[in-house]
Amino acid sequence: MFLILFSSVSVSTVSLIFVSMDPVECHRSAAELLQAQTHIYNHTFSFINSMALKSAVELGIADVIHTHGKPITLAELVAALNIGTTKTAYVYRLMRVLVHSGFFRVVEEAYVLTPSSKLLVKDDPNCLSTMVKMLTQPEFLTLSHVLKDWIKDGQVSSSTTTAFEKAHGMAFWEYANGKLEFNALFNEAMACDSAMMNMTVRVCGVVFQGIDSLVDVGGGTGTFGRILTEAFPGMKCKVLELPQVIDHLTGTSGSLEFVQGDMFQHVPSAHAVLLKILHDWNDEECVKILKKCKEAVLSRGEGGKVIIIDIVMNEKKDEHELAGTKLLYDLLMMLVVNGKERSEKEWERLFLEAGFKHYKITALVGLRSLIEVFP
Ligand SMILES: C[S@@+](CC[C@H](N)C(=O)[O-])C[C@H]1O[C@@H](n2cnc3c(N)ncnc32)[C@H](O)[C@@H]1O
Repeated sequence: MFLILFSSVSVSTVSLIFVSMDPVECHRSAAELLQAQTHIYNHTFSFINSMALKSAVELGIADVIHTHGKPITLAELVAALNIGTTKTAYVYRLMRVLVHSGFFRVVEEAYVLTPSSKLLVKDDPNCLSTMVKMLTQPEFLTLSHVLKDWIKDGQVSSSTTTAFEKAHGMAFWEYANGKLEFNALFNEAMACDSAMMNMTVRVCGVVFQGIDSLVDVGGGTGTFGRILTEAFPGMKCKVLELPQVIDHLTGTSGSLEFVQGDMFQHVPSAHAVLLKILHDWNDEECVKILKKCKEAVLSRGEGGKVIIIDIVMNEKKDEHELAGTKLLYDLLMMLVVNGKERSEKEWERLFLEAGFKHYKITALVGLRSLIEVFP
């Protein structure tokens, strides 16, 4: 409650000011103010959350706890990480943040894994550690320094210059092509993200049944292609990719074939074309890619389809955390490659513009949906 006293005002005026301030209202606004402060600080500090997670991955904390096989005390953790005991208090404070953000749990004064940190264990088939390492590279973090200028930049509305290009002087794919280590990390991160597609095949297996030839356009190092050919032994899969991604893989390995090429020029013909890449591209580019895919499936006669795995934005229906992840993904795509995440309406518009007749969306559990598009 505020009691304002001015030497020049009379006593009766002062009591009027005092009386007009409802104590409940006053209390509520103080609580609101403090909550707003916490909210701002939490979001400003979220890079520290990201730092803590990155360091947990780099230190291999989840692996150590997993290998230990039972709850691990702080002293045991420090020893297993090969860290000097003088740093014990620092490890404790790092772990305290990671426990608070749900990556570890404390059971009888010892740390255990949570479902999220189980996904950071190297041996887990769905391990996302490389994705964490890739997304916390300086190339992405430094975008925060250019975002304001990029948004204000007069050229932006008329050109496709990305924030990434503004920060690093060249487009993302060109940059990746020129930086061996970054390129390898990016390709590995994409592969680890695609490893989760095992679940897609389990949930939506029927979508892939009966397909004897499929092209995974921009299919990276073939993780999804491999999952599919193993799950459907009758299927032949071509991975169409840029040379920088598959120059060490070109050729045929079982039912999987790597083909170097540019999807804007030509997509090899097949019964089905898989696209787990469209959020990387703007609407005009997506329509070009979809048209090439349509040609590819039509050249095999009737019954072909394009299968898209991507985010479908649905802020009204998605629960809060999931909606937040999708929105952040959208901003990342905007900044790095001028791509976007799309609502069903936006997807529909693309399909119609590329000349497809109808589509069917199957919502998968989690971030992405599977969309079948029919010519
Ligand atoms: C975001 S990654 C996705 C990789 C894979 N589909 C996955 O989900 O793991 C996009 C891929 O598209 C590839 N790509 C980019 N431009 C391409 C082009 N013009 N033709 C073929 N592939 C391209 C990139 O090399 C990259 O591997």
